[in-house]
Amino acid sequence: MNDINTVTLADTARGLRAAAGLLRAGQTVAFPTETVYGLGADACSDRAVAEIYRAKGRPAFNPLIIHVADAAAAEGLALFNAPARALAARFWPGPLTLVLPRRPDTRLSELATAGLQTVALRVPAHDLARRLLVAFNGPLAAPSANPSGGVSPTARSHVLDGLGGRIAAVFDGGDCRVGLESTIIGFLDEKPVLLRPGGLAVEDAAAALGRERIDQPLRPAGAPDAPGQLASHYAPRAPLRLNATGPRADEVWLGFGPLATMRPGLNLSSTGDVVEAAANLFAHLRALDVLAAEIDARVIAVAPVPHHGLGLAINDRLMRAAAPRAAASAM
Ligand code: TXA
Ligand code: MG
Repeated sequence: MNDINTVTLADTARGLRAAAGLLRAGQTVAFPTETVYGLGADACSDRAVAEIYRAKGRPAFNPLIIHVADAAAAEGLALFNAPARALAARFWPGPLTLVLPRRPDTRLSELATAGLQTVALRVPAHDLARRLLVAFNGPLAAPSANPSGGVSPTARSHVLDGLGGRIAAVFDGGDCRVGLESTIIGFLDEKPVLLRPGGLAVEDAAAALGRERIDQPLRPAGAPDAPGQLASHYAPRAPLRLNATGPRADEVWLGFGPLATMRPGLNLSSTGDVVEAAANLFAHLRALDVLAAEIDARVIAVAPVPHHGLGLAINDRLMRAAAPRAAASAM
């Protein structure tokens, strides 16, 4: 769907105001960071985050990195341990992303964190990115601003090559200093683990913690190595029954489309809009889990969702959630 006019914004007070306005309206704006250009959207809006997935054509809902203006803002979204605080103090702003337990009381979109209990946070060092975060005055979800599977963009022209016509705006911010995505570090209890090597040398991170090294996490043989693909997706407690035509006596219902509003249940999109459905997916599954427990239903029956656009990603998540739990935990 290459049908919108992607505007180029200048690095001026006016450009920043325009970008903040677009972001508040739920649109996507590409901006430079010191690593790569990010495709930003309001991290507290499921709908805005769904726009990121649509623009990128992502086949699955990988959790996104949440960008904030400073460490204080990050502490408002996640529970920091001592080594995380030390790394943040030493390397933020900069090409380091920390994966930490998400605070239970945040307004962050469930879709942005793919339904996980953790959140990936980063304070970018690029001056324009930081001024944009201040102008927007809230967290921005931002994956690299390229179509899914493509090479990360380090210049405005790369962004336009891949996403021109699919996003609202891109900043004219020059080339990215680091040109490689951030290093991602998570924690097992308080032990740091390297989830993705990147723009910050892992040796430097280890040294800052007085450690000899930071290892990659051990994975079961054959498991995919992208952290977003791990056993990390949100699966509701109740099992799912897919491609159902309606709820049976002991089921709650997750519908899709104009004829699919049935009780007890919820509709992903009563207009049959897959972007709206994607924005609702994680929140609805969570709510139906609660409802199922309340009324003693055993199963969440799910209407068929078309496979086009974000429907592909919705089906991917539904299939993971519906897979036998032992198999799902190895995905
Ligand atoms: O340099 C960067 O990090 C760039 C710029 C724009 O900031 N952003 C970036 O985002 O590379 P993205 O979405 O392309 O990569 C996000 C990575 C994915 O591999 C994802 O699986 C991982 O971060 N990730 C995000 N949240 C996670 C979480 N809660 N647990 C584990 N991994 C997570
Ligand atoms: Mg990427």
